[in-house]
Amino acid sequence: SALMTVMINAARKAARGLIRDFGESQALQVSRKGAADFVSRADHKAEQDIFEELSRARPKYGFIMEERGEIEGTDNSNWWIVDPLDGTTNFLHGLPHFAISIALERDRQPYAGVVFNPATDEIFWAEKGEGAYLNDRRLRVSGRDDLTACLFACGLPFAGKPGRKEALAEAERVLEKTAGVRRFGAAALDLAFVAAGRYDAFWERDLNSWDVAAGAILVREAGGHVSEIDGGRNFITGGSILAANAEIYDKAKALIQGA
Ligand code: IPD
Ligand code: CA
Ligand code: CA
Ligand code: CA
Repeated sequence: SALMTVMINAARKAARGLIRDFGESQALQVSRKGAADFVSRADHKAEQDIFEELSRARPKYGFIMEERGEIEGTDNSNWWIVDPLDGTTNFLHGLPHFAISIALERDRQPYAGVVFNPATDEIFWAEKGEGAYLNDRRLRVSGRDDLTACLFACGLPFAGKPGRKEALAEAERVLEKTAGVRRFGAAALDLAFVAAGRYDAFWERDLNSWDVAAGAILVREAGGHVSEIDGGRNFITGGSILAANAEIYDKAKALIQGA
């Protein structure tokens, strides 16, 4: 669709800058927003590229962006939610697992999402009612229903973030009953991988809207379930997220919570 073309073009433009900087990521000037919360020129440059492209294509829409914050538009029902570089720590360490995440929220509902890993050239995208795709292939969540065969992904709070004990206790419960737990360090890709059936479930606490908005619509359009960890519906701003294939969603929710 025209909308998807706009979103993918903006992601591609930012991707070109990221790939250039990725080659020299060890030399990038880095500052911190918290003890282990890094930000580089690459984050700001990618955000600027996306902002320019999207505002040219849709001048009235508002923005919520990780680095620059909120910029109101004149059309209050359409908001871009942008994480210009998800997985900054991976990026700075030369790990090819990071992404650009762009979502469109329409009338307060997730409407479309793009998650693009330029290091692997994988573009995950979805539009409400149209399904989820990886490049030009249709995506489906996994069909695994036996927890002991399921692979989970999680996030663990880095230094300066709250909730480490809780997160480790959750991971311990999940490790006990499943095929394993991964922590790759880019929440948008964690969700995209659930949509693609690579992970059977993903959960994390204390994320922001830009980490999850695009990935959540991917999971839904691929047939999976998304909520807060306790089942609440407010996962974009609720501070926690659980995404899983429909077969194990209830079991995953109970297991993570220790219920
Ligand atoms: C981070 C990543 C990471 C998650 C952190 C996020 P950033 O985003 O998504 O996987 O555990 O909580 O802040 O800062 O690299 O865009
Ligand atoms: Ca960040
Ligand atoms: Ca992020
Ligand atoms: Ca980021």
